[in-house]
Order: sequence, then C-alpha cells, then structure tokens
Amino acid sequence: MNIFKKIYCRIFQGCFHLAIPILPYRDPKILNSINELPAEFASKGINKVLLVTDPVIRSLTGELENLLPQAGIECIVYDKTNANPTVANVDEALALYIREHCQALIGFGGGSSIDCAKAVGARVACPRKSLAQMKGILKIGRRIPLLAAIPTTAGTGSETTVTTVITDDKTHYKYPISDFPLIPKIAVLDPKVTFSLPANLTATTGMDAMTHAIEAFIGGSTTRKTREYSIRAVKLIIQNIEKAYKDSQDENARRNMLLASNLAGGAFSRSYVGYVHAVAHSLGGAYNIPHGLANSVLLPIVLRRYGSKAWKKLAILAVAGGVAQANDSVQVAAEKMIAEICRLNAAMGIPEKLKGIKVEDIPELARRADKEANPLYPVPVLWNAKELEQFYYDVMDV
Ligand SMILES: NC(=O)c1ccc[n+]([C@@H]2O[C@H](COP(=O)([O-])OP(=O)(O)OC[C@H]3O[C@@H](n4cnc5c(N)ncnc54)[C@H](O)[C@@H]3O)[C@@H](O)[C@H]2O)c1
Ligand SMILES: [Fe+2]
Repeated sequence: MNIFKKIYCRIFQGCFHLAIPILPYRDPKILNSINELPAEFASKGINKVLLVTDPVIRSLTGELENLLPQAGIECIVYDKTNANPTVANVDEALALYIREHCQALIGFGGGSSIDCAKAVGARVACPRKSLAQMKGILKIGRRIPLLAAIPTTAGTGSETTVTTVITDDKTHYKYPISDFPLIPKIAVLDPKVTFSLPANLTATTGMDAMTHAIEAFIGGSTTRKTREYSIRAVKLIIQNIEKAYKDSQDENARRNMLLASNLAGGAFSRSYVGYVHAVAHSLGGAYNIPHGLANSVLLPIVLRRYGSKAWKKLAILAVAGGVAQANDSVQVAAEKMIAEICRLNAAMGIPEKLKGIKVEDIPELARRADKEANPLYPVPVLWNAKELEQFYYDVMDV
C-alpha cells in the first residue's frame, strides 16, 4: 500500500478509536435459559414475534414456540435462512414480518439466523433503503424492533455485536452492515441449544470466536475493556474448545464457549476485526465456504505474515492462555500462540487448505477484501488488494 493511503487509513482509524468512549455501545441483557424469554417479551407488551431460524435449527425451536403462546405471545416462524444469509432470505422474512404485523424479532440459530433477523430489523427501521445501501458503518441510524438473539453456535458473537453480514444473491458479494441499533436488546446464552452442534462445526465456529478475540486484540483500536474481553475469551477457548469438540454434551464446556464467544463479540464489536475476516467474507460470499472454516484456516497464515508487528500482543495472549511462559521472548511467545492455533486446528480435524478457490476469481476477491478492511480495520500491517491476493494462493487447495 502506498504511503499516502497508509496515512489516510491510520487517520481514519485514529478518529474511530478516539470516538469509542462517546459512541453508544451497549451490552444486551443476558438470559441464561430460553424459558426466561417469553416473560421478558410479555413485560415489554409484545404479543406477536417473528422467529427467524434455519431448517436444521427448527428442530430446536419447538420448546420456545410452545412457551411463547403460554405467555400470550403469538410466534410466527421464518425457517429458510441460508448459511451465509442472503438478501432474498431477508426479503422473505421481512414480507412475513409485515404481513403478520409482528412487533419483535427473535434470531434463533447460528450467526446466519441471528444476522438474518438483524437485517430484517434494519429493513423495518429503514423501509426505503436496500441492504446494499446500508453496507458499511452507521447507515441505519434508527431504532429497530425489539430483537432477542439465541445463539446455537459458540462462534460469531452476533448476539452482542453491532454487525450483520449479508450476501447478495446475484453478485455473491458478502458485506457487513454495522450500526448501533443492530445490537440485540436480549441475548440468551443457553448451553443446551448448542448440544446438537456437530463436532466439526463446534470446532470451526469456536475458532471463529478465537479469531474475533485475536483480531480485536492485535488491532490498534483497543480499550481496557476490549483487551480484557479478548484475553478472557482466548483463555476460555483454549481451555474448553477441545472438550466441547470431543463431548457435545459437556455442559460446562458448552457454557464456557458461549461466554467466550460473547466476550469476543463484545471485543470486536468495539475494536473491529482484521484481514482474516475480510478475506473470509469474500470466500464465504463467492463459494459459500463456511465462515468459521475460512477463518480457522486463514488465522495462523495471516498472523504469521503480520510478523514482528503482532508479536508483542500475541505474546500477551499466549502467556494469558497458558501456552507460553512470562519469561519467553515476545517472538517465541507469539510463535507459541500461532503454534497453539495450528495444534487446535489439527486436533479438531480442521484442514490447512480450502477447496474451490478459482485463480481467475482472486483479483476480484482480494478487491472485495480490500474494500471491506481499508481504511476501517486497524490492522497491525496495512495491505492493499494486490498484497492481499497472496492469502488466496496460500490457502487454495490445488
Ligand atoms: N454479526 C456478526 O457480528 C457476525 C460475526 C461473525 C460472523 N458472522 C456471520 O455469521 C454467519 C456464520 O454463523 P455460524 O458460524 O454461527 O454458522 P451458521 O449460522 O451459518 O450455521 C452453520 C450450520 O450449523 C447449523 N447449526 C447451527 N447451530 C446448530 C446446532 N445447535 N445444532 C445443529 N446444527 C446447528 C446450521 O443449521 C448451519 O447448517 C456467517 O454469515 C458470518 O459471516 C456474523
Ligand atoms: Fe467471524
């Protein structure tokens, strides 16, 4: 990246960093069981909700669908959300919301279902704006309907973030929309809805949370709170992810992973992510590569490429996570952190490469990653589209 663009990026990021204390961040109210949700909605005078989910998760929503009417709340269900939710998903769910005169939203599922519910909320708030017009930051600016999020993966942290990530059905362009009204009012962290998550998804979604914690921490826009959130999340993930992977019913490990994902979401919502996410989003949009898988594979590669600019912070995480000694040099400790990520990936059967990337697509994918990340993400080292292309070659399975 040329020097003028670098200066522009750093000034842009510096302004957002300075603004963190005055921006209206908030944390959702946390409930520990879905049983508590109907009373919460009833206390707010809600009598009809749209529950947004996907066809697989629908097998988990029955209990809540029964409990809501007992509290006098009618529950309408949209259960067609795709993994990597699309504009068409949001349009369909929005039509149902309007036709049924719903008053509130529940996103029940992984990040895809929660993001779909968030995007429906954005469209209800701004009926004249398309999702594409809301791409980027601070384009909503209006209150969305009451939104509760029930994560069934411990990964995205979408239940606490300012973001929804949507894919254009036609162009396969996947883009984040970030604004404060998108932070859900209520988050239900109930480990029992994650018991059915298959081992491979437990692994990749958990490593997505790891990526959030690390990218937020090594970036240049941290606060004391986001640093603390990231450190706690990394520790919890190192201690619990393999347990949850090996025994899906390990309630304590599942609860700790949900907490870690929530903390990591709180960290990156304020301190942003980095190039791992920008590249992963381009791959998710173009080839439907699962978000967590793309991040898991890219994370050690991007961290290694940041080189000495990331050592100091990676070393802090390595020591906090118990994978390095306090007297290790920052380089040795940082390398131990990257080695731990590779060890976890291998132990959980996560591959080192990604299938399906086409060489001829790479310039456009890198251009999209550049557009997402620059100038917003306060990454340790700045790269332009041309420089980002290397990551696609590094991860492609030929
Ligand atoms: N909004 C944010 O802040 C944010 C942050 C990171 C990622 N994301 C987005 O979230 C999406 C990914 O979300 P995800 O990784 O949670 O996966 P997902 O929601 O796409 O779900 C992946 C698969 O797992 C299944 N699944 C989920 N929970 C299950 C359970 N308990 N039991 C059985 N199957 C289950 C789903 O049906 C789906 O087939 C991507 O679009 C990504 O870009 C959003
Ligand atoms: Fe993510």
